[in-house]
Amino acid sequence: PVPIILDCDPGHDDAFAIVLAATNPEQLSLLAITIVSGNQSLEKTTLNALRILHACGLSSSTIPVAKGASAPLMLPELADTCTADRHSVGIYPVKVHGETGMDGADFPLAVIPKVDERKAWNLMADIVSLYSAECPVTIVATGPLTNVALFVTLYPELRNRIRIVLMGGTFERGNIHPTAEFNILHDPEAAHIVFHSGVCLTMIPLDLTHQVLVTEDILGKIRALNTPFAKNMAGLVEFFRDSYQKTFGFSSPPLHDPCAVAYVLDPSRFDAQRIRVEVETGKGLCAGQTVGDFYGCFFSNQPKNVNVVLHMDMKWFWDRMLQSLTKANET
Ligand code: BDR
Ligand code: CA
Repeated sequence: PVPIILDCDPGHDDAFAIVLAATNPEQLSLLAITIVSGNQSLEKTTLNALRILHACGLSSSTIPVAKGASAPLMLPELADTCTADRHSVGIYPVKVHGETGMDGADFPLAVIPKVDERKAWNLMADIVSLYSAECPVTIVATGPLTNVALFVTLYPELRNRIRIVLMGGTFERGNIHPTAEFNILHDPEAAHIVFHSGVCLTMIPLDLTHQVLVTEDILGKIRALNTPFAKNMAGLVEFFRDSYQKTFGFSSPPLHDPCAVAYVLDPSRFDAQRIRVEVETGKGLCAGQTVGDFYGCFFSNQPKNVNVVLHMDMKWFWDRMLQSLTKANET
């Protein structure tokens, strides 16, 4: 199996990413879950991850869970000077994910499990050190890139032992601003560090995930699993559907984050194009924009740094997602 660390900010769609990552042990060895603030505060996203893990029949004593950054890298400066230009910094997307970060579900947790004492980036380093460049660890990042940026900055000698598959960015319309996607705009400096790190990088942008809609038919199949777990997962979808309807006019909600886990499950189901991508760290209308040179003629003096995924086998994805929900439902 491919060794992976899931860095996330649950988050409705992060919850589905955890389910997919935790239920395919023949193909994915989930070594740790590291948490970042984004969809909600670090405390809330951590609690949400613990809830989902428990709901999948796993615990933080088998899969370590570690907290990471509670704010974007540049928050102190931004708080004083240009928060207004960044739109999202320091503000959680409550309209989309609610006050808990996972509104719509109530996963029971009788006792709050212990989390690992290490910071996310130190846990990543301890794990990655055990692997070689021949067998790299894939960091699947489904939240803002703060933890990952700190890891590659603090441990540059481990960069050749990882790959990164991230959900983030957009080359079409944004979801937190007309030109920007949430995970990137929440911490553009972190994204800039990661995109310039030289690590093998695969990006799953909104261009793909906006096609991955949980239709009423799929929602019906989740409900039909007919257990408290399934009811909660359906509740997440329903809340997400209503937010996306109210905010963006979508009829069904897009399930962004599990696409990044699915890529690691079977990259042959995806089409990727290797191009140069830059992140706008300046202020103003294009703050947090991911700028991709698809023609290869604009940034030609810079090496191509990202595999951008724009298509996947949708039927395969939904079969795998529903299989995983069924497995988690049986635990
Ligand atoms: C990303 O932002 C969050 O709202 C989701 O969890 C996903 O990771 C989509 O832009
Ligand atoms: Ca997320």
